[in-house]
Amino acid sequence: MLKKSVALLFVLTTVMCCKQNDKKTEQLVIDPHSYAEPQHVSVKHLDLILEVEFDKQLINGIATWTIENHTQYDEVVFDTKGLTVHKVILDDAENEEPFFALGDEDEIFGQPLSIQIKPGTRKVSIYYTTSQNAEALQWVTPLQTFGREHPFLYTQSQAILARSWIPCQDSPGIRFTYTARVKVPNQFLALMSAENPQQRNSEGIYQFKQDHPIPSYLMALAVGNLTFKKIDNLCGVYAEPQMIDKAAYEFSDVGKMVKAAESLYGKYLWGRYDLLVLPPSFPFGGMENPVLTFATPTVIAGDRSLVNLIAHELAHSWSGNLVTNASWNDFWLNEGFTVYFERRIIEKLYGKEEANMQEVLGYKDLENGISDFGQTHPDTRLNLDLTDRSPDDAVTDIAYEKGFLFLKNIELAVGREKFDKFLKHYFSKYAFKSVTLEDFENELNNYLIKGNENLKTAINAYGWIYQPGLPKNAKLPHSARFDTIDALSVNFLKDELQAPLNRNIKSTNEKLYFIRSLPDSINIQKLQYIDSVFHFTTSHNSEIQYAWYLLGIKKNYQPVYPYLDTFLNTVGRRKFIEPLYGELLKNKKDKKLAEDFYQRNRPNYHAVSTRTIDKLFNKK
Ligand code: BES
Ligand code: ZN
Repeated sequence: MLKKSVALLFVLTTVMCCKQNDKKTEQLVIDPHSYAEPQHVSVKHLDLILEVEFDKQLINGIATWTIENHTQYDEVVFDTKGLTVHKVILDDAENEEPFFALGDEDEIFGQPLSIQIKPGTRKVSIYYTTSQNAEALQWVTPLQTFGREHPFLYTQSQAILARSWIPCQDSPGIRFTYTARVKVPNQFLALMSAENPQQRNSEGIYQFKQDHPIPSYLMALAVGNLTFKKIDNLCGVYAEPQMIDKAAYEFSDVGKMVKAAESLYGKYLWGRYDLLVLPPSFPFGGMENPVLTFATPTVIAGDRSLVNLIAHELAHSWSGNLVTNASWNDFWLNEGFTVYFERRIIEKLYGKEEANMQEVLGYKDLENGISDFGQTHPDTRLNLDLTDRSPDDAVTDIAYEKGFLFLKNIELAVGREKFDKFLKHYFSKYAFKSVTLEDFENELNNYLIKGNENLKTAINAYGWIYQPGLPKNAKLPHSARFDTIDALSVNFLKDELQAPLNRNIKSTNEKLYFIRSLPDSINIQKLQYIDSVFHFTTSHNSEIQYAWYLLGIKKNYQPVYPYLDTFLNTVGRRKFIEPLYGELLKNKKDKKLAEDFYQRNRPNYHAVSTRTIDKLFNKK
């Protein structure tokens, strides 16, 4: 799809202006998901002026890009999606408006914006307005917030949605610094992936600065009735007033996490590390926006049992934000590294057994993921080909958990000390750069393997990266505590209802493991018994709710349905709601219910979630 539009664009541009230098220069990484042509002209810096209009649910913006012209080229190309471009100015020359054109619209990739420039042009200012259905923007109604009084706006730019609120070269291989000036209604606070204010001001005008070069998918904005609470000198949390204390309690270890991370892989380079708790419609668990991680409120369990999510987003400050996958085909370079790093932080703070349990739970996800695809499906390879496909297709357990397991297996092959040195080297060598799979393989060969054939065989990078499924000799994670649960489950399922479940199943990890290992054939009395012991149906822990409701739907276990109803009505996190709707749809009895629920809840979900779940309903 994208190719076709690029071809069209080529026709358009040759008509538009005569190229003096038509020779293609050496290609940088070709990103199949961006129209930009950074080999000719790439962006270096952005000065952004935004005005947020809640009434009309749109943003008016002026994006002034400082560009570098590598080939004396006569045009610069940006990605846009649904943007109305009012005018373009070059180098502050108000009276001289250059020719610009929007190309054909692609449903996934949007439209290229081509602007005619001169070889000496340094700055391009684009005046624009976002559309009603800009996918990155979630306009949360007051009733969907905790306070129920004020609306809220947040963005989600990863993977390729930044183009729906900023005209940009929307590729993870292109980095830029930015400043922004954002005007919001005056009772609101605005926050970005940059140095942030901690207090509201009376005019509702906020200035931001991000001095480190970042890729476009890390552009972020949130506007709402937000307050700040300090956790320590480096870290704090922003949330609606109703959530702020709970959030500060839940995240109290974040400073220790930063220290643990620094002790592993080098200094934290982004200044502050703050967290923002979003309304429950946020489609992800967390998003690693630099300086300010965006987090779902479903991570706040009240007992800090889900804070690995914070370790994960923090770890992205190295793997992802500092060293970035150059194209979404190599998404595992972001996520697999991050899951590995996350679990090292968890091990440092909470011990080896805690990390082991999380590894095993992750491995169970991976097993299910691979079996859902089928063992030989090409999308079970780490190296993906997403040409003409949405980068959303990369967001699977393969990138996260197969990526993790590969790195863990390298650690086991070379020893932790060497592997840590390797990672430290990798993060420092590629700091503020984007990496390709080839870069990673070169580092592996030159820094770790160094011609040692035995090691090369033991690591088996080829098998892990390019072959589907899992290599036969993969070393798998193991948890002693889960062994105890396995034994207990066997007795519980075989015998009558006296197994001493609550004596041995205490932590959230153990409960999750227990629920997930229950077979589909379990009978309703057993579910009732489990509920009488653990009260899973009325749990407030989102991971437990999710796992239990999924089983409940499979078994048509009636007590969960009212709670499932509330859950689907409030939570918009795709990882939870997609499988729940999917399971409801599988069950003939629940199909109508699924449709009713979805029809009612759909307007409350973020476009990221509805895009995925719509497909589920259209398939049936
Ligand atoms: N960067 C991802 C979220 C993401 C991925 C957004 C791809 C858009 C496209 C984030 O770091 C993430 O992985 N979040 C997980 C949390 C986790 C694995 C602990 C999530 O949202 O569930
Ligand atoms: Zn992640």
